[in-house]
Amino acid sequence: MKVPFIDILRYENNFYDTVSEKTAALLKNGHFVGGPIVAEFESSLKNYTKTEFALGCANGTDAIQVALRAAGVEKNDKVIIPDMTFWATFEAVVNVGAVPYTIDVSKETLHLTASAVKEAIEKFNPKAAILVHLYGWACPETLEIRKLCEEKGVILIEDCAQAIGVKINNQSLLTSALVATTSFYPAKVLGASGDAGGIFTTSSQIAQTSQKLINHGRTSHYEHGYIGWNSRLGAYEANFLNESLKHLDARLESRRVVTQQYRDRINNPKLKFISPASNVWENGYLSVALMTPETRPAFIEYLKKHDIGYGTVYPGAMSEQPGATAHLGGKISHGNADWIAKSVINLPCFAYMSQAEIDFVIDTVNKF
Ligand SMILES: Cc1ncc(COP(=O)(O)O)c(C=O)c1O
Repeated sequence: MKVPFIDILRYENNFYDTVSEKTAALLKNGHFVGGPIVAEFESSLKNYTKTEFALGCANGTDAIQVALRAAGVEKNDKVIIPDMTFWATFEAVVNVGAVPYTIDVSKETLHLTASAVKEAIEKFNPKAAILVHLYGWACPETLEIRKLCEEKGVILIEDCAQAIGVKINNQSLLTSALVATTSFYPAKVLGASGDAGGIFTTSSQIAQTSQKLINHGRTSHYEHGYIGWNSRLGAYEANFLNESLKHLDARLESRRVVTQQYRDRINNPKLKFISPASNVWENGYLSVALMTPETRPAFIEYLKKHDIGYGTVYPGAMSEQPGATAHLGGKISHGNADWIAKSVINLPCFAYMSQAEIDFVIDTVNKF
């Protein structure tokens, strides 16, 4: 049996036909940019995520840039970010002219801690911080970090590219974030059929400014109050996302079954599965295990031999990337991000993975 790391084409029975019909309707009515489909998606997204304002944009990297700019981050401002994230978090800070400072993450939760953020605020005096929620989990100390940033006057932006559908303390993670962003890249839990992203906020000022930045800084059709750019969400993506959102709960549930079975049934001591914290309800984006850096290469070869896909999300710390040197303002490192990068392994996980596929992965991994 061959089990891919991810299969994004496991649609529900009627999904392909419904999307195709609605795509054909778009071709006939010409509402290619903006229009009712985009408005419908933004409204459904707001309801699903239980947020005050939800906006679509072109991709998850733009979403962070829009959020930084709309929240008031300007040229040369310092922004602290976790050393373990996807490169887009680092890039977005540099692209808005600000300076990234990386902070180490915890070896236990793999996320930032409130004490690490406090230390970084005291050391670097940043204008903003980006809290990244990885693996389909939430940072367990989110509420403490939100409170800390508010007290210290640090703008907090949350990169939720991997966290749609995640709950913390029984509430949607996005509900109380000052400003959060997401990615609808096809491999995300809510994926488009191309690139797309989203911005969520509790602030009407941030929502209004974001809306303008996304659309050439427009204050009216031919009046431009800001230097924005074109980061509009296209109608084809909104159409695909609209239909996907209707199935999202079922898709997330089927993913959670996979991550839970791996944790419950893989008993190979060479792998240590990490669970989200007890106050976090995951969306099943990724299964996360750690193994010694010495064992991982042989395990990867073993998975390849048995036709099982795998991931190493992410294989390098941000501050260690070749592109970081010219831009990094400073860092606090205890070597944790680096160690996680060398130790992490992700097994196949996607919506509607069959029980036979799950069993095959578990049996094979247990025999390593
Ligand atoms: C944590 C994180 N931030 C940002 C992004 C960027 O999103 P996009 O690829 O849609 O620009 C991603 C997606 O890959 C991500 O995983």
